[in-house]
Amino acid sequence: MKLIVTGGAGFIGSNFIFHWRKAHPEDTIICLDKLTYAGNLPTLKDILDAPNFKFVKADICDRDAVYNLFETEKPDVVVNFAAESHVDRSIEDPSIFLKTNILGTSVLMDACRKYGITRYHQVSTDEVYGDLPLDRPDLLFTEETPIHTSSPYSSSKASADLLVLAYHRTYGLPVTISRCSNNYGPYHFPEKLIPLMIINALHDEKLPVYGDGKNVRDWLYVEDHCRAIDLIIHKGTVGEVYNVGGHNEMANIDIVKLICQALGKPESLIEHVTDRKGHDRRYAIDPTKIHNELGWLPETKFADGIKKTIDWYLNHEDWWQPIIDGDYQNYYQKMYGNR
Ligand code: NAD
Ligand code: TYD
Repeated sequence: MKLIVTGGAGFIGSNFIFHWRKAHPEDTIICLDKLTYAGNLPTLKDILDAPNFKFVKADICDRDAVYNLFETEKPDVVVNFAAESHVDRSIEDPSIFLKTNILGTSVLMDACRKYGITRYHQVSTDEVYGDLPLDRPDLLFTEETPIHTSSPYSSSKASADLLVLAYHRTYGLPVTISRCSNNYGPYHFPEKLIPLMIINALHDEKLPVYGDGKNVRDWLYVEDHCRAIDLIIHKGTVGEVYNVGGHNEMANIDIVKLICQALGKPESLIEHVTDRKGHDRRYAIDPTKIHNELGWLPETKFADGIKKTIDWYLNHEDWWQPIIDGDYQNYYQKMYGNR
């Protein structure tokens, strides 16, 4: 099988490529990535010269580049991870989110229609369902939960999902969609909660918790997400949406305290800062469908996954130091300087 994996130089896409190469060593992977601020070629350094792997630097919005790649490579499967992924950046400037996440998705699917594929898989997010109240733990997101978005990021992802389903109904494109909760693990870009707190704590810097810190996310170890997508591609039903989540709801403040404890740092580093605009209160996935239909269950308990993640950041300063030494400094100053 030949796959085009877009966004494979980012967090989840790179973990997916590593997963797939181990699980299906006979397959060929072409990674298409624009290498935005969030894309990191050094992440893929160990496989760049491998015989059944190719890296192509291109923008999913560039129709000519995408069509050329499809014409040359004739992929069987396309897995679309490429996206602008950070909610805070989408609040600062939605425009690139609309371009990449919506128009880029349509370009990829147009290429699929033109050249023919056996599956287009769209990597989506539980954020398309909006949020749940903190005082109703019985409520979870199912695949039937209405789309109800809060941020420009989640709105762009929801728009893409609707387009993907429209291409299935209108053109018969063989699509699947996965909507996953918050991932954590190796190669997570330092702007996101868990790596940001680990790296700041290591430097004895303030740990900026938005608002009261009681917002809840449903954390999933990235490898469990990659296995879920693999199963959906192999056994999922075309035209269907699958929720992927870990039954692992945690308040932000508890995660930050846990990181302090694991690194032997004082909780006095924690600073409550101005809340995110429109901040979703709680996400929680009901993964019954993917469990019943495909037999998927998360394998990594949060206590083990967070330990593995913290150890990974401790041992891979060579990966994150160049990132935080670069443009990230300006970003951090702008986002947190006056917060
Ligand atoms: P990321 O920001 O770490 O990586 C995104 C990658 O896409 C980068 O390598 C970047 O260079 C590439 N990219 C961006 N714009 C591009 C373009 N126009 N053309 C080609 N490549 C482009 O993101 P992530 O956290 O790995 O998320 C991957 C996907 O999973 C996204 O679609 C995101 O919406 C979804 N998702 C993420 C989470 C999470 O917790 N991180 C949860 C659910 C769903
Ligand atoms: P994030 O990692 O940005 O993921 P998402 O917004 O997609 O869920 O944020 C996770 C949670 O952590 C979210 O409730 C916002 C909060 N947060 C902070 O409190 N401080 C921070 O510096 C960051 C980046 C996030």
